[in-house]
Amino acid sequence: MKRPFAELWGTGSYAPPRIMTNDEFSKILDTSDQWIQERTGIRERRVSSKDETNACMGKAAAQQVLQQTGLTPLDIDAIVYATASPDRLLPSQACDLQAILGAKNAAAFDVGAACSGFVFALSTAEGIIAAEQAEHVLVIAAEKLTSIMDWSDRTTAVLFGDGAGATIVRKSTNGRGILSAYLKTDGTLAELLYRPGGGATHPPSEELLKDHSYYIKMAGREVFKAAVLSMADACDHALERAGLDAGGIDLLIPHQANIRIIEATAKHAAVPMDKVYVNVDRFGNTSAASIAIALDEAVKCGRLKPGMTVMFCAFGAGFTWGSMVVRW
Ligand code: ACO
Repeated sequence: MKRPFAELWGTGSYAPPRIMTNDEFSKILDTSDQWIQERTGIRERRVSSKDETNACMGKAAAQQVLQQTGLTPLDIDAIVYATASPDRLLPSQACDLQAILGAKNAAAFDVGAACSGFVFALSTAEGIIAAEQAEHVLVIAAEKLTSIMDWSDRTTAVLFGDGAGATIVRKSTNGRGILSAYLKTDGTLAELLYRPGGGATHPPSEELLKDHSYYIKMAGREVFKAAVLSMADACDHALERAGLDAGGIDLLIPHQANIRIIEATAKHAAVPMDKVYVNVDRFGNTSAASIAIALDEAVKCGRLKPGMTVMFCAFGAGFTWGSMVVRW
């Protein structure tokens, strides 16, 4: 079998209306707009309200895709949901989304690959399509990271934001679709970026509440180094597997964690910055949702047009990383 087996059909996204600026953080933490912008490129992020659950944000993004494609919830055969911040630990986030969307014909499950989640979920959906197990796979990437980050820790709190993105993966038409995919993991680096408590090993306890170990912990500088290396590796492999060089890429949509990581990735891949989609300044790091939101924006503002070739590359907790080249 030869690629493309599957294409992305329609895009949608949702961002909570509440915008939180860096200046607001400087009122509650020992930080400044200047520090955050210089080190990360982030100006502001979206913060969800209590009622904007992960599933609600995912549903809002999914509904846009359904509207664009003319599909109904009953036409969806599978839901693959990428998230690191589900509303609850059991069942999976995808099950709750299936229920509130009314997609009762869909098998539904989550993919846990942190910030690489959208790429891992797309690749999973591609496999389902190639195996002819489904006609329409709804891929959602949604995060409510502001509920699992430590608001008293300036080294992590200023980085994250909330939001959701979605697309349908279906059988390729007219040569459109996924030209290459590359997924990779190094579990020995797990403790660079993780939530130590709250799982089965360290179940909820008073101690856990006191030491904040149920929040995201990160060794920022080490994550930065691993991110630059893994994003470079991801770009190299996606291009090689697609049989392309950088000149064949019309748009690069990298995971939006930090403008310095994005610039280093673009430089390594030899893609000029005017071909790189950046919205980290407005959303911060929305983990799995980041490429999905950027993709929807790129389509809606006309940066990504039919016939163009786009490359996604991501890294995240795990350590996970991955990439994909897609003919749009
Ligand atoms: N405001 C002001 N000062 C700060 C802040 C802040 N928000 N955060 C840290 N600092 C201080 C540190 O305490 C340190 O002070 P010290 O020198 O007195 O000890 C100083 O700034 C420098 O700290 P570094 O960590 O060396 O700063 P760095 O330039 O590495 O920037 C950052 C930190 C932005 C976190 C960077 O390392 C980074 O972006 N790392 C990658 C993070 C990332 O991408 N995470 C996403 C992972 S994806 C996922 O799966 C969720």
